[in-house]
Amino acid sequence: MNINYDTTIPNNVDLSTNKTLQRALEHWQPHYLDWWREMGPVESPGWDVYLRTAISVDPHGWAHFDYVKMPDYRWGIFLTPPEKDRKIAFGHHRGEPVWNEVPGEYRSSLRRIIVTQGDTEPASVEQQRQLGMTAPSLYDLRNLYQVNVEEGRHLWAMVYLLHAYFGRDGREEGEELLARRSGDVNNPRILGAFNERTPDWLSFFMFTFLTDRDGKYQLAALAESGFDPLARSTRFMLTEEAHHLFVGESGVGRILQRTADVMTRDKVEAPDAVRARGAIDIPTIQRYLNFHFSVTLDLYGSEVSTNASTFYTSGLKGRFEEEKLTDDHELSAGHYPVSHVEDGRLTTKDESALMTLNERLRDDYVRDCAAGVGRWNRILERAGVSDRLHLPHKAFNRKIGLFSKVHVTPEGRVVGEAEWTAKARDWLPSDADRAFIASLMGRVTEPGKFASYIAPPARGIGNQPVDFEYVRFN
Ligand SMILES: [Fe+2]
Ligand SMILES: [Fe+2]
Repeated sequence: MNINYDTTIPNNVDLSTNKTLQRALEHWQPHYLDWWREMGPVESPGWDVYLRTAISVDPHGWAHFDYVKMPDYRWGIFLTPPEKDRKIAFGHHRGEPVWNEVPGEYRSSLRRIIVTQGDTEPASVEQQRQLGMTAPSLYDLRNLYQVNVEEGRHLWAMVYLLHAYFGRDGREEGEELLARRSGDVNNPRILGAFNERTPDWLSFFMFTFLTDRDGKYQLAALAESGFDPLARSTRFMLTEEAHHLFVGESGVGRILQRTADVMTRDKVEAPDAVRARGAIDIPTIQRYLNFHFSVTLDLYGSEVSTNASTFYTSGLKGRFEEEKLTDDHELSAGHYPVSHVEDGRLTTKDESALMTLNERLRDDYVRDCAAGVGRWNRILERAGVSDRLHLPHKAFNRKIGLFSKVHVTPEGRVVGEAEWTAKARDWLPSDADRAFIASLMGRVTEPGKFASYIAPPARGIGNQPVDFEYVRFN
């Protein structure tokens, strides 16, 4: 399954044997590059960036590191090898061979799933396009660009499926994916979180820790799909996604390290005192966490969802680690606890397991986030700082689902409009917080130097030292 780089479009799907498909994708490619130039990272086209490129889909050692100008990055189509005799693992078709063509009755559902996933990929590049101007170091700048080119490749992965399996509609969707714009009132991206701004590096690290992790869970559910090309595409995307999560977790971790160092060195605790020293106070970091977490939870959709149950019974989208679960994989019976608001309090009610797959995936995601927050807290603990970060309650600040009609505090207490309005500024980033964070966003371009609010990483990228020249501005 090595990747063929001798062609216009690198791939490991024998693209040259299907001339119609190859021509369609070669027609889309310049449109993609136009989009990259218009909406990709600003001012970057001539810079040499030390990037990794996939050279095979072997989970061990698929990456090759070298300087690349981003518009020359070899975006392409990489699927994991087919699993011999793979069977559908869940739903009504459980035990049947996986599909290598789109089943007619599921065509529109599958197309919708692929388009919704595909839309998030260019959206995040658009959200992050200004960040290069304020990177806290060359190391971080390179990581941002790595994430950006890989989100571009994830778009390629979805557009390949649309072109290869959905004919003319698929090609039209491929064009639409390049036409929507994050945050545009007239033609926005499909999902809410992908229309929010990512104006600073604290937001970027929270986004990659939280929102890319949503990506991980959605991709993991699609990696179970009975439509094998989708499963194989998303399996390889997951290997790239791991780096995005690393960027987010280590980014916030290094900010916390810096904050803790300043607090213990100068024996200060008050947010203003921490800020005066060029670091970010922990309450502000907590408010950013609250915001990005709650916005990302909405991406999982309604707690009780007919769509999710249909996708499951049809074999299109599984549960997280479906094949490791020990039940009937049809969910014909069985319940799952879902939070509700009753008489002004949060309670849980058992609902049909089949109807609550969104909530279950959201809960899997929340557990994974909580583990990451625990690792952040260990940084504070080791540094001798007593403050801790907490994930807010999942009902906090929601715009979609059962909780969108009530106000709930980060601790999970239902409150009225007046209390919410009075306290929201303690819970969510205020304009003043955002202005303070913006004031820290200077650009650091000297190798091995870092902005005041972030500690250096423990090690560099691709066996290079931390003070390596990860980006060359030509
Ligand atoms: Fe992605
Ligand atoms: Fe990602």
